[in-house]
Amino acid sequence: MKYIDAAKLSDLPPGSCLSVELDKDGRGVALFNVDGEVFALDNTCPHAGGPLGEGILHGDTVRCPWHGWKFNVRTGQCLKNPVDDWAVSCFPLRIEDGTIQVALEGQEPSP
Ligand code: FES
Repeated sequence: MKYIDAAKLSDLPPGSCLSVELDKDGRGVALFNVDGEVFALDNTCPHAGGPLGEGILHGDTVRCPWHGWKFNVRTGQCLKNPVDDWAVSCFPLRIEDGTIQVALEGQEPSP
């Protein structure tokens, strides 16, 4: 699995989120720090494309900045429409020397 540098862990303090473009094709990830645990989701809200990494994080739920749909950042599940069609992809990540690295192969959202 190929990991790509996404952000410094120091730029993502607990309770915060971040929107990051990972490659020249504009593929983006949304990073979330939930009490020291970091999660990476597809940055594009499935409703109308809002940037989830610019949303508001409460606990492990992010509220999309455009129309307020909420998603669980651990599973990608949409709380408004909890069906797979509306879930966002979760990406594997690791932290190396203080850098958050993300692998872009999507994982199926957890049930
Ligand atoms: S674009 Fe995210 S709720 Fe509409």
